[in-house]
Amino acid sequence: MSDTEQTLANLLKEDRRFEPPAELAANANVTAEAYDAAAADPEAFWAAQAERLSWSQPWEQVLDWSEPPFAKWFVGGKLNAAYNCVDRHVEAGRGDKVALHWVGEPEGDARDLTYAELQAEVAKAANALIDLGVRTGDRVAIYMPMIPEAIVAMLACARLGAPHTVVFGGFSADALASRIVDCGAKVVITADGGYRRGAASALKPAVDDARGKAAEHGHTVDKVLVVRRTGQEVAFDEGTDVWWHDVVDGASSEHTPEAFDAEHPLYVMYTSGTTGKPKGILHTTGGYLTGAAYTHHAVFDLKPETDVYWCTADIGWVTGHSYIVYGPLANGVTQVLYEGTPDHPEPGRWWKIISDYKVSLFYTAPTAIRSFMKQGREVPDRHDLSSLRILGSVGEPINPEAYVWYRHVIGGDRTPVVDTWWQTETGAMMISPLPGVTAGKPGSAMTPLPGITAEVVDEDGNPVPNGSGGYLVVTEPWPSMLRTIYGDDKRFVDTYWSRFRKQGYYFAGDGAKKDDEGHIWVLGRVDDVMNVSGHRLSTTEIESALISHPKVAESAVVGATDPDTGQAVVAYVILRDEAGDGGPDIIKELSDHVRTQIGPIAKPRQIMIVPELPKTRSGKIMRRLLRDVAEGRDVGDTQTLADASIMELISASKATTT
Ligand code: WT7
Repeated sequence: MSDTEQTLANLLKEDRRFEPPAELAANANVTAEAYDAAAADPEAFWAAQAERLSWSQPWEQVLDWSEPPFAKWFVGGKLNAAYNCVDRHVEAGRGDKVALHWVGEPEGDARDLTYAELQAEVAKAANALIDLGVRTGDRVAIYMPMIPEAIVAMLACARLGAPHTVVFGGFSADALASRIVDCGAKVVITADGGYRRGAASALKPAVDDARGKAAEHGHTVDKVLVVRRTGQEVAFDEGTDVWWHDVVDGASSEHTPEAFDAEHPLYVMYTSGTTGKPKGILHTTGGYLTGAAYTHHAVFDLKPETDVYWCTADIGWVTGHSYIVYGPLANGVTQVLYEGTPDHPEPGRWWKIISDYKVSLFYTAPTAIRSFMKQGREVPDRHDLSSLRILGSVGEPINPEAYVWYRHVIGGDRTPVVDTWWQTETGAMMISPLPGVTAGKPGSAMTPLPGITAEVVDEDGNPVPNGSGGYLVVTEPWPSMLRTIYGDDKRFVDTYWSRFRKQGYYFAGDGAKKDDEGHIWVLGRVDDVMNVSGHRLSTTEIESALISHPKVAESAVVGATDPDTGQAVVAYVILRDEAGDGGPDIIKELSDHVRTQIGPIAKPRQIMIVPELPKTRSGKIMRRLLRDVAEGRDVGDTQTLADASIMELISASKATTT
């Protein structure tokens, strides 16, 4: 055992709690009193947090919960989200402060943007969007690499009250098209491509494709605004396509932001659910911005004068929305924005960025931490990471080994680790330690934040005693909660509010346990949703993709435990009779098919061609058994199977796996 391994083993054995560093605790933004204050009067607490923002018109009522589960927060209040994230900092004399230290993937390709420069860019882009026909209420799709223009585009939409829907660049043309159609996006903002793993990776062709597919569904995209990033060759449709540098660069940098209602839609973010069709999670303006700004201030103990913050998420996910764009910019922070992959051109790229920019607050995902653990501590040890003071984790449960390694190797044992549990739907962090208050336990998200009331309940909705597990619920409305599923109020009610309707609880879809001290350990999804590298994927969505292949008769998909990605996609496929054995390339064919239907992130780790699927007598696929096989366990109880011999056939089929 090496010294590090020995130290880590000791740390884990000790069952130690990590007390907040004394100096951090003494100067913490939020202290233990906040929990009591918020519990005593939640509405007054949230009203005080909303005061962090600049309102053009004050609200008349903090919360209107007269028609649950449809909440209205800060009723009657008016504000502009982009003004709050940019202009007000310039007006307060902080225009010269760096908003973004942008780092492109190619080395040396970097650029700083001050708040004043960001303001000018956002105003120009807003004016250009107006010229392209975008009006308040119109939807705009954004499909971009991690470049400053992506943030400018989001804020320009927010400035006009035109809800954006950002689609992750790793999603396929099909996935982009279905999102464009579902929310009726009038304009798409994209780039020729971005840099990934040392090469230019195209985006524009997928937009061209998606536009065609949307047209087949009767939806016309009016304009496509294209940033030139890589300079790669792109097809250009003169009627539709417009270069960013042609229409934005020359536009006026004067634009007066209009104040919108607190409940004006800010954005739609699609996420996977238990059915094939992704859900468009709708967030509105005042409550969302309050939640994002408050939690960012509290959980990162943000000192905007001195901290440099970096969140490694992509803006195509909710983490990028709340903790790159809206929370941090509303708080006026200086942050790093990095375009590329963690290990390009060398495995220490991230650590080099931290030391180059003296990053003090760092937010990433367990899957990334685990991949760095595998490379060994020599890589981060070559860099000066002493600027770091708080480390955050999000996306999936952080295993204690990864937590301890993160704290020890990256944080030099100085830094609290904040494991933040939340969801696309919750808009902001919900359960997390406070770095100046909480003595952290490796692997636990600990307690609901001040103002948030979460519980672990049994089947009947009763809180479980300490030491037991159950379903994670949120018991009271919170400002950044989703308002509905875009265009589908019924699905919103059914998905989140029907499981514990009697109690009126929000059902998160996660299982959790309370330890002996009542601290919460989130265990993972209890529905047919997988979590692969911190990204949510639906089993049914991948099954539908597989079934749409002409050689496939039936399929079942499960999430199997994976040491690197948390869970991995494992697919069982029954071929159609006329397809025979599918041919020599069948596995690759099916895998590529999933890739084009959804995107590379949904690609199965393993595809097994099987003769049958295990079903109950009522015809429901027994995924539990398939998970057992995928994880190499003996299959457990098969009594409820309609045909008990099937599991033997499936286990025997493993030979055909690639
Ligand atoms: C699901 C939400 C929140 C932004 C990123 C993912 C899982 C998220 C944690 C955590 C345990 C976590 C849950 C949740 N999850 N954070 N700290 N500990 N599980 O957002 O795609 O909406 O997924 O991610 O299962 O329900 P998302």
